[in-house]
Amino acid sequence: MVDKKRSFPEENTWDFVAPEGYARWRENKLAQASELLSETPVLEIGDIARLTEAEHAEIYRRCEISNGVLYKDLSATSDVAVTSGRLRQFADNLGLRIAEKHRSAQEDGIVCLQETESAGKKGYIPYSKRSMNWHTDGYYNGPDQTIRAMVLHCARAADEGGENQFLDPEIAFIRLRDLDPAYITALMHPEAMTIPENDEGNGKIRPVSIGPVFSVDPDTGKLAMRYTARTRSIAWRDDPLTLEAVAALSQLLASDDPFIQNVRMQDGQGILCNNSLHNRTGFDADKTQPSDRLMMRVRFHNRVKGI
Ligand SMILES: [Fe+2]
Repeated sequence: MVDKKRSFPEENTWDFVAPEGYARWRENKLAQASELLSETPVLEIGDIARLTEAEHAEIYRRCEISNGVLYKDLSATSDVAVTSGRLRQFADNLGLRIAEKHRSAQEDGIVCLQETESAGKKGYIPYSKRSMNWHTDGYYNGPDQTIRAMVLHCARAADEGGENQFLDPEIAFIRLRDLDPAYITALMHPEAMTIPENDEGNGKIRPVSIGPVFSVDPDTGKLAMRYTARTRSIAWRDDPLTLEAVAALSQLLASDDPFIQNVRMQDGQGILCNNSLHNRTGFDADKTQPSDRLMMRVRFHNRVKGI
């Protein structure tokens, strides 16, 4: 029987000081997440800028179980300025602290992901029609700029393609630990994954980012994940177990695991998640004109919490 009160593992569960606590948590997690998948997959919200108490509670419930909620904003518009303001209100109402430092963010911390020829963005995959491999957002950030949650909101869908896949990091953790608990130890190593420094242009250098794949959020005790499936400009810790663990993770992400959600977002749909793993397929490949697809993204330094 599913114990509704035990949504999260106890302190220290992640590093196996309390293996029995982990086993109980794992069982409940999988049962609750399965149940949630069988419910209405997309939560309809009347107006994301003005959440009702019931909507807020449901958003929190879904995030508590699966670290994310797919929503449909029934008051959505494709106007960028209006949508930016509404996304900001959405974030404020949920107590999320917007990360402002992304170089493409407007003053309000919101990034428009669309095909563009503009200087500084042209040539970068997020601003193209190309597919994007699995990652968590901000995997190249330093520890003081960790991204713990984000919203990806579809203002205008592609004509064709542009499908996303999402996977809850806690499910990835469970799957890898089921294969071999030593994989988790390897991926929690503080030097597991290194992203070298990068010249971002305009004289700015993004410093090297060295850290674990799985870690524990010090504020909440919850699991956090930092990952990219990229194979260039990345260095994995040079030890056989780490490389085996990374290969196992890559296999999981290429699998048809029932917890991997496939979503082709329509206008007004979005996801709020605790920085779940995600990717996207390419889109509008045959169009000779630039694609109209417009996704708006907001990143946060804290996780979704209830009130
Ligand atoms: Fe992303």
